[in-house]
Amino acid sequence: MSGQEHEGQILRYRTGQRIVHAIMASSFLILLITGLALVWSPLAFIAAGGWSRYLHRIAAVGFISVPFLYLLLDRTGAKEVLVESFQYDHDDVVWFKKMYRYALGRTAEMPPQGRLNAGQKLHHSAVIVFSAVIVVTGLVLWFAKANLSVSMLSWTAMIHDLAMLALTLLLVGHVFFTYVYKAWSSMATGYVPADEMKLEHGKWVEELEHDGAKDPVA
Ligand code: HEM
Repeated sequence: MSGQEHEGQILRYRTGQRIVHAIMASSFLILLITGLALVWSPLAFIAAGGWSRYLHRIAAVGFISVPFLYLLLDRTGAKEVLVESFQYDHDDVVWFKKMYRYALGRTAEMPPQGRLNAGQKLHHSAVIVFSAVIVVTGLVLWFAKANLSVSMLSWTAMIHDLAMLALTLLLVGHVFFTYVYKAWSSMATGYVPADEMKLEHGKWVEELEHDGAKDPVA
C-alpha cells in the first residue's frame, strides 16, 4: 500500500501478528464446530464417518502452534501482549466502572487507555489462561485417555468443555466490540485511524509520540 493511503493512520498490528491472529481464530472456530459435533446432537451429523475427529486434531495442532509462531514471527509483539494483558492501573479500574458506556460506543467519556484498553486486557488474559487449560486437557484426552480412571476422564472432559465454553462466550463479546468499533480494519490492514486511536488509546499514542516511534502516523 502507498504512504498516501496510510495518511492519518497508525500501524497497530504488524503482518506477523495478523497471521498469528488468523491462525488462532480459524483453528479455534474449527475446534469449536468439530468439538460441538461430539457433544451436541443437532450437529452430530458433522461427526458421522469420524472425519471431524481428525479435523479436530489438525486444528488443535494449529491452535497449539500459536504461541510458538507468535514468538517466531514477532517476538516483541508476543512479549507485549503477554505482559500488558496482565497489568492493570487505576485508569483501567475506572474504565471497567464505565464499561457500559464503552459498550454503547461512547468512547469520549472513557479514561485514557494504553495500547490495550482494560476490556482488551481482560479478554486477552482470559484467552491466554483458558487456551492453556484447553491445550493441557486436550493433550491429556488425546494421548493419555487410556491411562485415566472413568472419573478422571469425565473431569478432564468437563474442564476441557467448560474452558471452550468460556472462550466461546469471550468470542461473542470480542466480535461485538469489533463490530461496534469497526475494528476489523486493524486486523485486515494493520492500520487504524490516528484520530480514533487518540480518543480510544490516548496513552499509547502519547507513548509513540514520546518515543519518537518511526512514523507511527504515516
Ligand atoms: C472469528 C472472529 C474474530 C474477529 C472478527 C476478531 C477480531 C479481532 C480484532 C479486530 C482485533 C484487534 C482489536 C483492536 O486492537 O482493536 C483482534 C485482536 C485479538 N483477538 Fe480476535 N477476532 C476473532 C477471533 C478471535 C479468537 C477466536 C480469538 C481467541 C481464541 C481471538 C483473540 C484475539 C487476541 C488475543 C487479540 C489480540 C492480538 C494481539 O495483540 O496480537 N480473536 N481480534
